[in-house]
Amino acid sequence: MGEKLNFLLGADQVPTHWYNLLADFPEPLPPPLHPGTHEPVTPDLLTALLPESLVAQEMSAERLIEIPKEVRDVYALYRPTPLLRAVRLEKALQTPAHIYYKYEGVSPVGSHKPNTAIPQAYYNKVAGSRRLASETGAGQWGSALSLACSLFGLECTIYMVKVSFDQKPYRKLLMQTYGATVHPSPSNQTEFGRKVLAADPHSSGSLGIAISEAIEDTTRNPGTKYSLGSVLNHVCLHQSVIGQETIEQMQMTGEDPDIIIGCAGGGSNFAGLAFPFVQRKIMMGKGCRIVAVEPASCPSLTQGELRYDFGDTAETTPLMMMYTLGHQFMPPSLHAGGLRYHGMSPMVSHCKKLGLIDALAVPQIKVFQSAVQFARTEGIVPAPESAHAISVAIDEAMKCREEDRKRVIVFNLSGNGLLDLAAYDTYLSGKMHESGDD
Ligand SMILES: Cc1ncc(COP(=O)(O)O)c(C=O)c1O
Repeated sequence: MGEKLNFLLGADQVPTHWYNLLADFPEPLPPPLHPGTHEPVTPDLLTALLPESLVAQEMSAERLIEIPKEVRDVYALYRPTPLLRAVRLEKALQTPAHIYYKYEGVSPVGSHKPNTAIPQAYYNKVAGSRRLASETGAGQWGSALSLACSLFGLECTIYMVKVSFDQKPYRKLLMQTYGATVHPSPSNQTEFGRKVLAADPHSSGSLGIAISEAIEDTTRNPGTKYSLGSVLNHVCLHQSVIGQETIEQMQMTGEDPDIIIGCAGGGSNFAGLAFPFVQRKIMMGKGCRIVAVEPASCPSLTQGELRYDFGDTAETTPLMMMYTLGHQFMPPSLHAGGLRYHGMSPMVSHCKKLGLIDALAVPQIKVFQSAVQFARTEGIVPAPESAHAISVAIDEAMKCREEDRKRVIVFNLSGNGLLDLAAYDTYLSGKMHESGDD
């Protein structure tokens, strides 16, 4: 084979700044609105939930924001992450395409989520918060925040979407190992959770409901702040380390990407990989195709409407301009729990509206076929979320084969699936259906 597989950066090449695409949009992003007055939100509304430093980042139009030393010190546990070339997958597909993947699954919890959990915990610690409350879908975000809180000495309470709480007991245990308290959502801990349970005692939950519970918990408990693992501008900002490193690593390969692919739940790993490339597109007209991939059964970008909507089911968040299926949308209990969100990051939505990115939706069984093919050729068992990106990468590589044309494909392998083996069991035993399962 003899091809170079692994493109590694040195420990001193962790980015020193986060990149903020808000500085470079050719049209400004529509602001979030106060749910009562429908006026643009002022920072004071957000500081009830987030420390001032994160509110400032949420609204900042500065292009580069310095990463604090304390955060870089923790990033050093797993960053820079590797970029690998999937030569064995290429060979199995008999494609002239070159396929590269940025592997974020090397973080201690197995996904990209610590890239923002670490700074969020850090800024909260500096601001004097005692405790953080948040929600989690698949449990990846909850594990990342639990880890970050334990590193910075904060208490942590996580509302975990019930279907994942039941399907993924090991993620719950991981969070508990890091010292967090975990409740299945809808829970009896909050008024909103009790209301949902009264209406449907068997509710499998959703990210929208879990967000409402975490926000209610925050507003009722002094010393507590809220933390979100996706969607918001400052989360996309923190994830930009992924794309910045990838640009350096692609230079090492001597190739330029033709297609960039990421899965999209709330949009953060996609944003992290894509936004530094979107900047190149805006500034230098360097045109690679950039594709966000979502589940066919929760297709906010491909089937949703672009309009102001709430980020949660109980209508407590500011209204955000985003592609949405409606905040009451109840996604089916698909196995990529981290992609079960009714909306999409306003920044990712804005990119789509401006024609800077495309979106595709892929059905669940096809995603698992791709995941298994990837595991059997490249060795890494991907997170079901990340496998959405793999599926489109494989489709693109097959197109290259049909057209006998080489293209350079780069996708984000946002996490590994070692704690998602129950989903693989459902697939391998033939019990998986397109939405819901068994
Ligand atoms: C491994 C992995 N990839 C992707 C996602 C989707 O989130 P986002 O769109 O914010 O990257 C999640 C969410 O939990 C995840 O765990």
